[in-house]
Amino acid sequence: MAEKILRIENLIKKYSGVTKLHDINLSVEKGEVVVILGPSGCGKSTLLRCINALEPVHGGKIFIDDDEITAKNAPLSLLRQRIGMVFQSYDLFSHLSVLDNIILAPLKVQKRNKKEVTEEALKWLERVGLGGKAHKYPRQLSGGEKQRVAIVRTLCMHPEVLLLDEITAALDPEMVHEVLNVVLDLSKDDTTMLIVTHEMRFARAIADRIVFLVEGKIEEISPPEVFFTTPKTERAKQFLESFEYEDVKKEKA
Ligand SMILES: Nc1ncnc2c1ncn2[C@@H]1O[C@H](COP(=O)(O)OP(=O)(O)OP(=O)(O)O)[C@@H](O)[C@H]1O
Ligand SMILES: [Mg+2]
Repeated sequence: MAEKILRIENLIKKYSGVTKLHDINLSVEKGEVVVILGPSGCGKSTLLRCINALEPVHGGKIFIDDDEITAKNAPLSLLRQRIGMVFQSYDLFSHLSVLDNIILAPLKVQKRNKKEVTEEALKWLERVGLGGKAHKYPRQLSGGEKQRVAIVRTLCMHPEVLLLDEITAALDPEMVHEVLNVVLDLSKDDTTMLIVTHEMRFARAIADRIVFLVEGKIEEISPPEVFFTTPKTERAKQFLESFEYEDVKKEKA
């Protein structure tokens, strides 16, 4: 049996007493790419935030390997290093260069060797097409470049699982591609990823499995070729049709 790196068992999450995630069960294999799709407000970000222990949960358990993230005395700082998260807003420090942004946490939190971390950072910057930008400051970069730096910063912490929450949502359309291509490239390295995105073509290309979430419940889990051609529920069909309509609107514009 393939190794499960992440296990979510009977997860329940509430806000102000209202249940927003209902009995979520999901296991992710090492190297697997799971894309979470669903209408706005269905709980996609909440699910990722629970996995990264940014939110207390109200039932169920989440494990990375055999370590329970949701345990009362779980060492959160250590667990968070094993789960990297990239958000829509890249949150780089404006007073630090690209390189210093990237090496900050590996040096301060992981106490790693500066030379080794710097070499790794430079290698990654090269790979994501930012070879010449190590000594620039965030204000000198485009949104797409900043987001690629944010991805490299997370990767340099060597997370076992990478969570990406709508990382292209704030970007101009021409920059979306450059960031998604970096993520596609990463998926070839067997990086385990949970991705929330509204980019359907990207989702179809990168996913091993699609998880379709509606009102805090998993409605369907399917391989992308099934989900995008013969979704199991009417709700999923409607959801996909709303994107076709978006495509038509874009073509007309
Ligand atoms: N901090 C919070 N306090 C109270 N309610 C919240 C909080 N964060 C999210 N919610 C609610 O939980 C539900 C799920 O929100 P979530 O942000 O996870 O949705 P989403 O699927 O990521 O939506 P979107 O596609 O718009 O990003 C929504 O009803 C939202 O209003
Ligand atoms: Mg969200």
